[in-house]
Order: sequence, then structure tokens, then C-alpha cells
Amino acid sequence: MAGMHPIGIFDSGYGGLTVFRSIAAQMPGYDYIYLGDNGRAPYGNRSFETVYEYTLQCVRWFFDQGCPLVIIACNTASAKSLRTIQQNDLPGLAPDNRVLGVIRPTAEVIGTYTRTGSVGILGTRGTVNSRSYEIEISKFFPNVKVHPLACPIWVPLVEYGEYDTPGADFFVKKYIDELMAAAPDLDTVLLACTHYPLLLNAIKRHLPPNVSVVAQGDIVARSLQQYLERHNDMKDRLTTNGTMRFFTTDDTRDFDKHGAAFFGKAIHSEFVHLT
Ligand code: DGL
Repeated sequence: MAGMHPIGIFDSGYGGLTVFRSIAAQMPGYDYIYLGDNGRAPYGNRSFETVYEYTLQCVRWFFDQGCPLVIIACNTASAKSLRTIQQNDLPGLAPDNRVLGVIRPTAEVIGTYTRTGSVGILGTRGTVNSRSYEIEISKFFPNVKVHPLACPIWVPLVEYGEYDTPGADFFVKKYIDELMAAAPDLDTVLLACTHYPLLLNAIKRHLPPNVSVVAQGDIVARSLQQYLERHNDMKDRLTTNGTMRFFTTDDTRDFDKHGAAFFGKAIHSEFVHLT
């Protein structure tokens, strides 16, 4: 990829494609590379050290492909590794490159969606246990009450293409009922996992009609656009041939088959072996 300087978009698997879809729609023309670490997904129940190690390895790979800017389109990886990578690794690795996540841009706006001031946050165990959303949201909206709930079964259901089945419906209802019992006053539910938009229909079906569901794709895309407006130095480094390449650390046929549902159109992936 000589001469190319794409924006890198990373997720443990397919979920980041829901973010990439919004980014590509809002910012066409840039070159993009997507990497799904499907071979090691899901990350959600893994330790801090493991998620950090995997994510750093993927970030290095993006840098080797010529990406000056990497978006960690995974809440779990953002929660568990982003700060360490930004503060400890980046200065030695590539001080002019940037790695951005999905939690902060979401925390910056989520308070504008709620009237009751009560928001449910659905995420993986890793994201919820990190308390990243409570911490970040309290900086921007100190009066908003945050109700986090881990839904550990949801990512495996989605990764294996079981998002529109009675089994998925059962596990969606289970967690939605738990959330509403704990916080009956909430009027907004944030899908704080980039896999969950695939369960949107089932989630809406089991929530009371007055509760709105917020997915992160458009929020992250808008925030990236604003970031590049503020950082012309970075914008000028990115190449703009309108290319998109997809990489996975697992079977490319599976990736193409399942990934299309997340991305909204057909994709052709390439296998990458991370060393
Ligand atoms: N898409 C990832 C997220 O946003 C899910 C992670 C996983 O468990 O691999 O958290």
C-alpha cells in the first residue's frame, strides 16, 4: 500500500463495521482499511492485559500499513487499552500518529438525548466493569444518571449470525427486562457495543415505546469529521482515493458473509496473520 495513508478502523470482529458504515457515508473519499480480529473475538470477557496486548498488536499493524489515524471502533478495546496506548505506547511508536476511541465522543453528546436524565448503557462485561462511561459522562453531564448493564451473551450471538432468531430474542428480553426493572425512569438506552445495532429490532421490541435507542455509528462519524476539521495537519496526511479494504484474522468467506449485514453492502475481505 505504498503511498497510501488510509484511516484505520479496528474492532475485535464485525461490530466496528457498523461504525465504519456511518463514517464511510458521512466522509466518502478517504482511503480506509478495516481490521476485524475475528480469530480472537470476542474481547468482551477477556482480561485487561489480553485486550491491551491484542489491540496494541492491531494498532501496530495499522501503522505498518501506513495509517496515520486509527479509530478503535470497539468499546471494549477503547475501555481497556486506549488510554495506555495513547499515553505509553504512541510516543515511542509513532508520536505523530493518532489513535481515537468511541467512548469519549459518545459521552460528549449522550446527555442531549435524555429528558428524564436517566440513561441505560448496554455493553460487554469489559466495558461495564471498566466504568469508563460513568467516568466520562459525569465530566460532560454531571446530573445524568447512568445505569450500566453487561449483556455478555449478545456479542457471541451476533458474531455467529444468530441475531434474528428466537434464541437471540430470549436473551435480548432477559437483559432489557433486567435494565428496566433496575431503572424504570430511563428514557434513553445507549448501545455501548458496536455489535449491538444488529439486535436493534429485538431491543426495540422489548423496550417500552417511550424509550429511545442510541447507536454510536453516526455519533463517532460526526466526531471524526469535527476532529479532522480541527486538525488540518492530520487531514493533509490522509490520502483520498476513495478505496476501502477489509482484513480479518479469521476465515474471509465467513467475514464476507456476516460482515455484509453489519456494513450494509457486500464486502470482500483479505486474510491477515498478525505476528
Ligand atoms: N464491538 C465490541 C464492543 O464495542 C465487542 C466486543 C467483543 O466482545 O469482542 O465492545
